[in-house]
Amino acid sequence: MIRPVIAGNWKMNKKIAEAVDFASRLRYDLEAPPDREVIIAPPFTALQAVAEVLRGSAIRLAAQNLHEAEKGAYTGEISGGMLSEAGCEYVIVGHSERRTLFGEGNETVNRKLRATIAARLKPIFCLGETLREREEDRTKAVIERQLKEGLNNLTAGDIGRSLLAYEPVWAIGTGRTASPEQAEEVHRFIREWIAGRYGREKAEELAILYGGSVTPKNIAELMLQQDIDGALVGGASLDAASFLQIVRYE
Ligand code: 13P
Repeated sequence: MIRPVIAGNWKMNKKIAEAVDFASRLRYDLEAPPDREVIIAPPFTALQAVAEVLRGSAIRLAAQNLHEAEKGAYTGEISGGMLSEAGCEYVIVGHSERRTLFGEGNETVNRKLRATIAARLKPIFCLGETLREREEDRTKAVIERQLKEGLNNLTAGDIGRSLLAYEPVWAIGTGRTASPEQAEEVHRFIREWIAGRYGREKAEELAILYGGSVTPKNIAELMLQQDIDGALVGGASLDAASFLQIVRYE
C-alpha cells in the first residue's frame, strides 16, 4: 500500500506573511497528521520562511520550478541547490502551466528532472493532455511521449525518489474534474508503462497523484480508485480549511 500524498500547489499566490500564517495553521492542525504525506508548494519568496515554520513537523515543502543548471549567468532563475538550502524536499517539474505559458517541452522537463535528482531533491513530475488531444483520442500517445522523453536517462533509483502527477490540462482551474474512471484509466496506463520500463516493483511503489479541480467534495471518490495515490491541488489548496478537509478525506 502506498501512503497517500496530498500536495498543495499555490502557484503565484500568497505573500510571505500569508504563507507563514497558512503554514502555522497547518502545522497546528496536523500535529497528529493522518497517515498521509502532506506537501505544500509556496512561491519562491516564501519558501524559507515557511520552511522555518514547518521545521520538525511532518509537512514537506516543495518548490514549483527550478532551473536545470547548478549556477551561472541565468538572470531570474533559481537552482536546485538554492531550493534545497531554502528547505525544500520536492520540486514540481513539468507543470502544464510551465509547458504552455513558458514553452517548456519534454526535453526541458527531462533536464529539469535530472537537475532535481542531482540536487538531491525529489521531483513531482507532471503530465497531462489538452482537451483537443483528448477529443482526438490521443491521450495515451501524449502521455506516453511525455513519459518517454521526460524520463530519458532516469534510472529506477531516480523513479524511486519521484512522484508523478497526472493533470489533464482541461481539468486545471476549470472546475471540470476528470471522472474517477477517466483518471483511473490514465493512472493505470502510467503505472503499466513504468512497470514495463522500470519493473513491476518500482511501478507498484510509485505514488501517482491526480490534479485538476480537486476539492473537498470530490477527493474521496478519486482516492477510491486503485491507481490514484494522492492529489495535487491548486485552487482548493489556497484556503487552509479547504486544504485540511482534502488532507483529511475519508
Ligand atoms: P486546480 O486544482 O486549481 O485545478 O489546479 C490543479 C493544478 O494545476 C495543481 O498543480
